Amino acid sequence: MTPSVAAASSLAEELIQKIEQKTAVIGVVGLGYVGLPLAVEKAKAGYNVIGFDVQSSKVDMVNEGINYIGDVVDDDLREIVQQQKLRATSDYSFINEVDAIAICVPTPLDTYQQPDTSYVESSAREVAKYLHPGMLVVLESTTYPGTTEELLKPILEESGLACGKDFFLAYSPERVDPGNKHYNTKNTPKVVGGVTPNCTKVAASMYRAVLEGDVHEVSSPAVAELEKIYENTFRHINIALANEMAILCNKMGIDVWEMIDAAKTKPYGFMAFYPGPGLGGHCIPIDPFYLTWKAREYNYHTRLIELAGEINNSMPEFVAERAANLLNKEGKPLKGSTVYLLGVAYKKDINDIRESPVLNIIDILEEKGANIVYSDPHIPSFKRRGKEYRTMELTQESLQKSDLVMVTTDHTAFDYSLISRFAPAVLDTRNALKTEAKPKLYEIL
Ligand SMILES: NC(=O)c1ccc[n+]([C@@H]2O[C@H](COP(=O)([O-])OP(=O)(O)OC[C@H]3O[C@@H](n4cnc5c(N)ncnc54)[C@H](O)[C@@H]3O)[C@@H](O)[C@H]2O)c1
Repeated sequence: MTPSVAAASSLAEELIQKIEQKTAVIGVVGLGYVGLPLAVEKAKAGYNVIGFDVQSSKVDMVNEGINYIGDVVDDDLREIVQQQKLRATSDYSFINEVDAIAICVPTPLDTYQQPDTSYVESSAREVAKYLHPGMLVVLESTTYPGTTEELLKPILEESGLACGKDFFLAYSPERVDPGNKHYNTKNTPKVVGGVTPNCTKVAASMYRAVLEGDVHEVSSPAVAELEKIYENTFRHINIALANEMAILCNKMGIDVWEMIDAAKTKPYGFMAFYPGPGLGGHCIPIDPFYLTWKAREYNYHTRLIELAGEINNSMPEFVAERAANLLNKEGKPLKGSTVYLLGVAYKKDINDIRESPVLNIIDILEEKGANIVYSDPHIPSFKRRGKEYRTMELTQESLQKSDLVMVTTDHTAFDYSLISRFAPAVLDTRNALKTEAKPKLYEIL
């Protein structure tokens, strides 16, 4: 072993020991849907955790023990804040105090549908200012293969410290599935790929100390970056196939949901995906296009991803057209009709409207002159194109006052029996009334 390899190994062993003895201080940059649950799990595992966010409102809420993320248990957050295991700040100098840091900032697409890595870059620049020997940095944001080594590493090395020698760098994708009752941050297996074997070893030891799920080590950050995008691309493409089937089944007069239920009886080689009004959230509509962009560097065109995107993006138009056709059966035009949307969150039982296809449906229907009202127990209000929308209580009266009710998100809290009894006409994009008596005018996606 050369002296520099020996020095790096002893720095790694030192950090692993701190991690195992729970004396390591852990930082989390970005306290959103991914970062806050991660910070809470680390604090619950016994570490002192410092969270950072650029939004002072989130920092204040964390410091007051107030939870704002659905997957975090209110009491857990309150207790760890009271026990001083977790505190939040908007001052990057906190990095002076930490031994390891996880970066969980947004990775959206820009207006040209290209990766916007500006949040990763700006947080990395701040981390570089306070990076110190023996520290571990893990990127958790979803991104294209190459980001950790091509973008993050050079920025961090501007500090004068060398990766793998003076500090450790790894990529570990986050798999949190908001609203999932069974799998959460703690019990979901984690993939880790470090820039050097020591980087992988240190990062894996941190996750093993905190999580119950398996920690699967891979040979490089790029493998971990790509496997995450592959997971989400798999969903993106299979959802597009289900949506294509829904469009075709509608033409053929076949119930797509019944057809999928039948296909699902095959015990191997088939996994059920369902159609819907379009894709939403910060992951499935976005992540595959990080790969599409990167593939161009290799002169490769990811045709399947783009085609799936086209089909998924066409769903709000398809749903709006179905709404117009359904109203037409009652002799009503869209213009002037009240369309009552049940659910604006992009999926069941969560409070997230990012990229929600329901917002596109609203735009299309309003452009055609419909009046839009909505109920969503998880979204009290939201703004769209400068207009503010407020949720209504789902009642017999609110249903009867509308011309068409559209089930856009199948929240558990909705009273489907009430909907089936009092809605004048229903377009059910989620098969939510599956077990209910159907209203006279009822259509399923
Ligand atoms: N939400 C999910 O279900 C999910 C699942 C898996 C992976 N991911 C990935 O995790 C990453 C984070 O997603 P999210 O849903 O938690 O996003 P989010 O918007 O909920 O949270 C990100 C947080 O980072 C903060 N932030 C922005 N710029 C910052 C900066 N320069 N320094 C510090 N903080 C900054 C924001 O204020 C915000 O609170 C993304 O790459 C996303 O693709 C998300």
